[in-house]
Amino acid sequence: MQTYLVTGAASGMGAAVAQRLSADGHRVIGLDLDAVEVCADLATPAGRQTAIDEVLAACDGRLDGAVLAAGLGPGKGRERTTVEVNVLGVTELLTGLRPALAAADKAKVVVFGSNSTTATPLVPGAAVRRLIAGDAAGATRIILRRKGLTAQIAYAASKLAVSHWVRRQAVTPEWAGAGIRMNLIAPGPVLTPLLRSQLASGTGGQVRAFPVPVREYGTPEQLAEWVLMMLSPA
Ligand code: NAI
Repeated sequence: MQTYLVTGAASGMGAAVAQRLSADGHRVIGLDLDAVEVCADLATPAGRQTAIDEVLAACDGRLDGAVLAAGLGPGKGRERTTVEVNVLGVTELLTGLRPALAAADKAKVVVFGSNSTTATPLVPGAAVRRLIAGDAAGATRIILRRKGLTAQIAYAASKLAVSHWVRRQAVTPEWAGAGIRMNLIAPGPVLTPLLRSQLASGTGGQVRAFPVPVREYGTPEQLAEWVLMMLSPA
């Protein structure tokens, strides 16, 4: 039995991953806004610190793996919250939990990016760079200049930032050098509450126009299968 953290465990792909890990006999520390083991708001610095403290206490300083699935889709008026949750809810959390991952034998980390980063134009590189540096306020100021597209740009910038952060950090002495395997998965559209609310919103047409070569949306269970493969021993 191993101990895994799953953020976003109350819904969608995070819930599907948590169910699969539990069914395989592992201990899952679910983290979300409510209805899980650790309830914390990843949109605020205080909430992220609570999350780190409570997860470290719950796992007794040793984590065999972490799946970072908590996230917000594009939403007009919540650009700052989107980048806080999607970027700092990953980078600050993982930085705070790294000692517990290093304490395990060959820990595995899977972060959720998004394939929408490949289909969203006009994402300012300066905003992505600020997010990687942890500056959500500065990044949001830049994103809000892209009038009319700010919600989509905030989402794509957040997912580009975590993709770059994972790619840069994964190979360093602190991560790979400490025996921690960190990867990112970038799904196309998957039918979860997040995607359903996007389809029902004013930008539903844009979401439907997103290229889906296999012609149907993925399911949370299919994505959980991929994540389980990424968590398996080499
Ligand atoms: P979902 O909406 O079903 O689940 C996301 C979970 O994150 C929810 O339980 C929510 O409460 C939690 N969360 C949101 N804000 C939070 C906060 N401030 N603090 C703590 N928890 C918070 O979404 P879904 O679709 O399962 O998404 C999982 C991940 O996959 C997200 O990072 C999303 O951006 C990403 N993704 C989703 C795709 C899709 O088509 N559904 C496609 C590509 C990536």
